[in-house]
Amino acid sequence: MKKIVINGGRSLTGEVTISGAKNSAVALIPAAILANSPVILEGVPDIQDVHSLIEILEIMGAKITFSNNVLEIDPTEIVSVPMPNGKINSLRASYYFMGTLLGKFGEAVVGLPGGCYLGPRPIDLHVKGFEALGVQVTNEHGAMYLRTESDQMQGNRIFMDVVSVGATINIMLAAVKAKGQTIIENAAREPEIIDVATLLNNMGAKVRGAGTDIIRIDGVEELHGCRHFMIPDRIEAGTYLALAAAAGNGIKVKNVIFEHLESFIAKLQEIGVKMKISEDEIEVYPSTDLKAVNVMTYPYPGFATDLQQPLTPLLLMTSGTAEIIDTIYAKRVNHVPELARMGADISVEGNMIIVNGPSKLHGAEVVASDLRAGACLVIAGLLAEGTTTIYNVEYILRGYDHIIEKLTALGASIEMIEEVEAE
Ligand code: EPZ
Repeated sequence: MKKIVINGGRSLTGEVTISGAKNSAVALIPAAILANSPVILEGVPDIQDVHSLIEILEIMGAKITFSNNVLEIDPTEIVSVPMPNGKINSLRASYYFMGTLLGKFGEAVVGLPGGCYLGPRPIDLHVKGFEALGVQVTNEHGAMYLRTESDQMQGNRIFMDVVSVGATINIMLAAVKAKGQTIIENAAREPEIIDVATLLNNMGAKVRGAGTDIIRIDGVEELHGCRHFMIPDRIEAGTYLALAAAAGNGIKVKNVIFEHLESFIAKLQEIGVKMKISEDEIEVYPSTDLKAVNVMTYPYPGFATDLQQPLTPLLLMTSGTAEIIDTIYAKRVNHVPELARMGADISVEGNMIIVNGPSKLHGAEVVASDLRAGACLVIAGLLAEGTTTIYNVEYILRGYDHIIEKLTALGASIEMIEEVEAE
């Protein structure tokens, strides 16, 4: 196990460059196996989830190289390998192998997804979509068995009862080679969905409307290789913007697509954070007189659920009471008791997180419960007086590319230490 040790209270300044979007990469990499020739993905983040997916693809027979954020995937030797358990369970996004293996082979055996604990994370909408395409789906001993009933999936009209990023992408991955047209209604609109649709269309698919709530897919016979430059990570960018506002003394965040962060930046401006927004970078100035604001998360383009935790340390620096409601994951509150251990005046009341600022934070030993809770604790540790030790940091390494190096370059005193397992 690894832990992160931070000596907080230092003034942070300088530049940080945002890496490729984790929540794109975890879909683009499985999607590449749909091609009948090599796919080159550029701007790929060097994070644990990417390495886990590379391992899975290699088990299936893909030839892979990954250096300087360029991932080359040669899927020509891939065979349909049942993956009921093992590495497949190490990340939630493993469910994308259901859609891609159905698209490629018309069948799949995939262990139920793992990943962060954010409360119940069903995949009923994924299953509903596959069944609408003529796929028989059974859950046997924690693994999903998917078989196309005829010799090919049939396009269909699918209404998503809940706006779901994963289900929207997964159905897209299965439908690109189905016979006829598939229409996904009430589709999620996240930028990562547009990124996946762009890759698929570069591979020869016919996907229209990605980024809106109606996506039309006309099935094609074959998909070929291509080169694709993926979008930067709006959640990593939001995390560093929140850090810059809370603990920064002038920090420039580079490689940002402003449009992907409009609701988050509007919230920072509401708090009173001073920023200079350029085409692909945002400079955050030292801010004073910050005021507490309320936050309610929504599907894109609303305020992202993934950013309510990283924003919390900044809210602790503001004057007043902030109320946070996560309408997507009501149980995404495991960072609250850890922040309280650091002296934060924060509590959960019903479906609301109540934050009273300003709170003076002191170092403590804390535990990361999920990826974004971990990022929240890192920011709190950088703010706190004294030493903070964060355990379970494997969560953080799943989604934040070179976080130790990026924070050290900003002047942070932070190191990652391999915990020697007790005998
Ligand atoms: C994606 O998860 C992201 N993960 C999550 O980011 C993000 O928090 C989430 O979207 C919401 O934006 C990846 O992209 C790998 P959903 P996903 O399906 O696709 C319910 C991070 O920190 N639902 O959009 O799993 C679900 O319970 C991670 O990077 C069903 O009811 O989320 C939730 O309440 C954490 N049935 C809501 O929909 C289903 O079949 C949205 O979930 C699927 C989802």
